[in-house]
Amino acid sequence: MTDPTTLEKRIRRRIIGPPQLFFAATAPGLEALCAAELADLIPGAQLQPLAGGVSFQARLDDGFRALLMLRTANRVLMRIARFQATHFRQLEKALSAVPWELYLAQETPVAVRATARKSRLHHSDAIAQRLTDAVADRRRAVVFAPLAPAVPPRPQRIFVRADHDRFTVSLDASGDLLHKRGLKIDVGPAPLRETLAAAILQQVGYTGDTALLDPMCGAGTFLLEAAMRACRIPAGWYRDFAFTGWPAFRPRRWAYLRRTVETAVRRPAPAPILGFDQDPTACRRVEAALAKGGLGDSVTIQCGDFFNLDPVHLGLPPGLVVINPPYGKRLGAAPESRVLFARVVDRLVRWYPGWKLALIAPPGAEHLAPPPLTPRRLPHGGLNLVLFTGTLPR
Ligand SMILES: C[S@@+](CC[C@H](N)C(=O)[O-])C[C@H]1O[C@@H](n2cnc3c(N)ncnc32)[C@H](O)[C@@H]1O
Repeated sequence: MTDPTTLEKRIRRRIIGPPQLFFAATAPGLEALCAAELADLIPGAQLQPLAGGVSFQARLDDGFRALLMLRTANRVLMRIARFQATHFRQLEKALSAVPWELYLAQETPVAVRATARKSRLHHSDAIAQRLTDAVADRRRAVVFAPLAPAVPPRPQRIFVRADHDRFTVSLDASGDLLHKRGLKIDVGPAPLRETLAAAILQQVGYTGDTALLDPMCGAGTFLLEAAMRACRIPAGWYRDFAFTGWPAFRPRRWAYLRRTVETAVRRPAPAPILGFDQDPTACRRVEAALAKGGLGDSVTIQCGDFFNLDPVHLGLPPGLVVINPPYGKRLGAAPESRVLFARVVDRLVRWYPGWKLALIAPPGAEHLAPPPLTPRRLPHGGLNLVLFTGTLPR
């Protein structure tokens, strides 16, 4: 069937030209923040916050820009087919009608993830196999574009979801999950997800124009997120995406988009960003990640004990202190967590008057911090942590 020129025209007419439907998947509770980010990035885009993410319509270039910029999304999918199927013949027919050559290069292997809920076809492995077969059949029947020489042939993840016999097929545009910013070399124990750190900074209104201090910085997640935000560096600046292997990907347009975004970058960060940790290995790890991103002149790392730290001696005017102490898993089961939490709050109240605060507390600690700090739930990796925010009284 189709020759390369016709294929190119179809890709332009069907994929690059018209708006596509995307879904930005988020951690539970981050949907509204992600929708706010998208509304900012793609003014006028049709957005629909749903449980677990935000559905949005955008041209392909805007979808790619969203992937580059979004700080709170875990991944972005592009919807490519929706249909109803109650038996396998119907599923095979619908999958063989998908013009796979518009979405996949010739050499790209597919990695299918199928899920089924309240559907007559509920065997997810069999559903996935039907999709893999449909792609292979199509590859035998029509011309697919070759992969661009610079792009390694890595598997393209395809999601197929059945819900009440309604099927949705989506391409993962992200590749690695988006919290992987491409800077950390070694994460160390108990790191915070970058998407969650970004959401916390967004919630407390951090723009980079005031000082930020993380006195128990661990792998430096808050510091790296703060530095990127303060320098206006996109969340995905240092990493790669699956969509660069799509036949509709245009390297020159992408390079232009990156150049445009780069004009907004300001280095170093306009206000101090400081990290402390008592563990020298953690400090070296953060320094290495900062150096990798060229962020060393925006963030200062010092090895030291939070309980000996005096922000006045650092010459800092009150800014934002973000802190994620090393708690045990459950407050009730770990009395030392309660003691640590009380000591941290006491130190903050005495030594940080006038500072804004974002303090992560263990599950069940809602009632343990003094007013005016307000608690909110913070789902993270199966734990219901608590985030206290507010301004410490002068
Ligand atoms: C839960 S981890 C922080 C994780 C960090 N938010 C991240 O994303 O990687 C807690 C960190 O606090 C540090 N820490 C514990 N007690 C400390 C103290 N008294 N002073 C400074 N750092 C401390 C530990 O070394 C550890 O790296």
